[in-house]
Amino acid sequence: MAHEAKAYQDPGTPEEISRRAFLARATIATGTLVGLGLAIPLVTTLVPSRELVDANKGYSPLNKDEFAELEHTTDKPIKIFFRKLVTDGYFKMDTEYYVWGVKLAPGELQTLQAERPDLFTPQATQALGFEVGQLGFVMWSPLCPHLNCKYDWDEGLGAFLCPCHGSEFTKFGVHKKNAQGQYIGPAPRGLDPLPFREQSGMAEVEWVKYAANTPSILRVSYW
Ligand code: FES
Repeated sequence: MAHEAKAYQDPGTPEEISRRAFLARATIATGTLVGLGLAIPLVTTLVPSRELVDANKGYSPLNKDEFAELEHTTDKPIKIFFRKLVTDGYFKMDTEYYVWGVKLAPGELQTLQAERPDLFTPQATQALGFEVGQLGFVMWSPLCPHLNCKYDWDEGLGAFLCPCHGSEFTKFGVHKKNAQGQYIGPAPRGLDPLPFREQSGMAEVEWVKYAANTPSILRVSYW
């Protein structure tokens, strides 16, 4: 038995050791190549291509009745729905989204510019690709800039309130602070505006998704 145990522990001749090491390295190299061969196509199918992202670019008409309500409402934001046909490359889906519309009363464009200077810098205008508030309205993306939960307008607070982590925003999209001057909730920036236009008498919005949890606005996709 002692002899068998010793034979089991025998590492073998130098040639045997070197052959085993070669086989081990060859197995690892082959496994790595096979893994990469499978992983690269898989990752590229999960990350949408530029063409696919841009395929969903475009304006969609806002619900007429809700926009008409917004035209007569300057004291609070109005939720306005719209439908959009989006494709993921395989399927087309007719999906319903909404925005929060704010009508700017006379002088409120200046208020917006003073309270949200971050939206009016040359860099922001370039990143957004449009000028905020030019037609007398602002359309806020319904996604909280923290982690993209959907916030709501809270009549009691007179502010937007995110249910996930409690960030609060004014109707001008300013991230609110408490009496001690600390931001209420973890949002890294104010609310994000969406492109808005009037075309042949129709109010239209473009659905843009921005990066979550970054201090500056960064466009990610169109659905
Ligand atoms: S997702 Fe809105 S505060 Fe976190």
